[in-house]
Amino acid sequence: MTLPFSVASAPGAEALERGRLLFAGPVDFLKGVVAMEALPPPDRVEVCFAGRSNVGKSSLINALTGRKALARASNTPGRTQEINYFSLGASHYLVDLPGYGFAEAPKPVVERWQRLLRAYLAGRQSLRRAFVLIDMRHGIKAADAEILDLLDRSAVTFQLVLTKADKVRAGARERVLGEVREALQGHPAAYPEIVVTSSGTGEGIATLRALIAALG
Ligand code: GTP
Ligand code: MG
Repeated sequence: MTLPFSVASAPGAEALERGRLLFAGPVDFLKGVVAMEALPPPDRVEVCFAGRSNVGKSSLINALTGRKALARASNTPGRTQEINYFSLGASHYLVDLPGYGFAEAPKPVVERWQRLLRAYLAGRQSLRRAFVLIDMRHGIKAADAEILDLLDRSAVTFQLVLTKADKVRAGARERVLGEVREALQGHPAAYPEIVVTSSGTGEGIATLRALIAALG
């Protein structure tokens, strides 16, 4: 039997090369957005990186673009506080989102980001795919499940990206993958392949580049 929700197989040479070329081109920080009205015109292929605070969203953008500090990455959960837009060539926007869950900020401030995050995920026309990052050591938590439900309701295709694979041993990997596959059942908006990544070792990064380039 073929299980749904398999780990993405390595893309073909042509797809990998397309991904490599896209990410080898110019990447620039465009702006940080704190209100829906300030989003840039929805005229490019847009992908976003969503996930709990500290899951590794900003680090993943740095790994994809090969720039160490393009998106800020930190040890302080809740560090990314705005919707950060990066232009990738002339065709794509990469969007680094504030984390959900724990944040080191006053409650009203956190609530404001969370409202913006939800409005963005539910209502951005040009959003072609939401990559939802899950820490491979922890699996899917309640806060993640809520976001997946929101994406289902909004009919935004999401793809799970497991992060920090370098921190997980082979046995635990299989267990977490099994749990994640199970949890994806019944999510109509879920893309059927999962990507396993490490911003530390580079695992899965070329695959993710190819996936994003293929959305062009
Ligand atoms: P917020 O902006 O606070 O929501 O966090 P974020 O999801 O952007 O996480 P960030 O990229 O800032 O990374 C959080 C911490 O995890 C940092 O200390 C990173 O160095 C670490 N980290 C991120 N990716 C990896 C990885 O693949 N492997 C390991 N070992 N650590 C990682
Ligand atoms: Mg961040």
